[in-house]
Amino acid sequence: MRIDVLTLFPEMFDSPLSHSILKRAQERNIVEVVLSNIRDFATDSYRKVDDKPYGGGAGMVMTPAPVFDCFEYVQAQADQVPRVILLTPQGTPLSQDKVVELSQQPRLIMIAGRYEGFDERIRTGLNAEAISIGDFVLSGGELAAMVLIDAVVRRLPDALGDDDSALDDSFCNGLLEYPQYTRPEVFRDMKVPEILLSGDHGKIEKWRKEQSIERTKQWRPDIYEKYQQAESRKNEK
Ligand code: ADE
Repeated sequence: MRIDVLTLFPEMFDSPLSHSILKRAQERNIVEVVLSNIRDFATDSYRKVDDKPYGGGAGMVMTPAPVFDCFEYVQAQADQVPRVILLTPQGTPLSQDKVVELSQQPRLIMIAGRYEGFDERIRTGLNAEAISIGDFVLSGGELAAMVLIDAVVRRLPDALGDDDSALDDSFCNGLLEYPQYTRPEVFRDMKVPEILLSGDHGKIEKWRKEQSIERTKQWRPDIYEKYQQAESRKNEK
């Protein structure tokens, strides 16, 4: 997979891309991440990339020309048809289903903005899908793009080592993951649940499922409701 990121702050990506799973995936050529600085495509002497909003209002808006020029330059570097993603708090909330769908594409181009927003023609003219990583406002789209890159890359075949593989149990079966324990058996008077030490795999599996359900019900009633609906559809069949 090739992931291009158009940003005003390419250096922000250095650390996340140079550690752990993202680092290894690039070393193994599972993913190529190419960072491009939108400001390199500004044409005036101030290298300006934003301007005041038409109609008035606070803040500055990212102007379309440097983003379009940067996009066209980057797009021409590879043949695959890209999915274009604009990171914005106004976008559709990111979900694991969307992550899986994007991980099956050969190429993604992500656009991370700063300032108060983008000129709307960036989204419409580049046929970009607006994605938000949650109902809160970040100072820019860079951290959101990093979150999306991390979530997508760990889904790519061979990106995870054996030790990492269990990490995305949550969401995959429509429930949150059950609580996990490791050694020691007693830590500061807190004991590992007896059943996990029993060696009875049938009972352990049942306990884990119950814990998953209980945890989802308490912490994520929205996911629990969907789970219940899916279960009752299953039972109708
Ligand atoms: N840019 C600023 N806030 C954001 C968010 N929550 N998701 C995606 N991009 C953003």
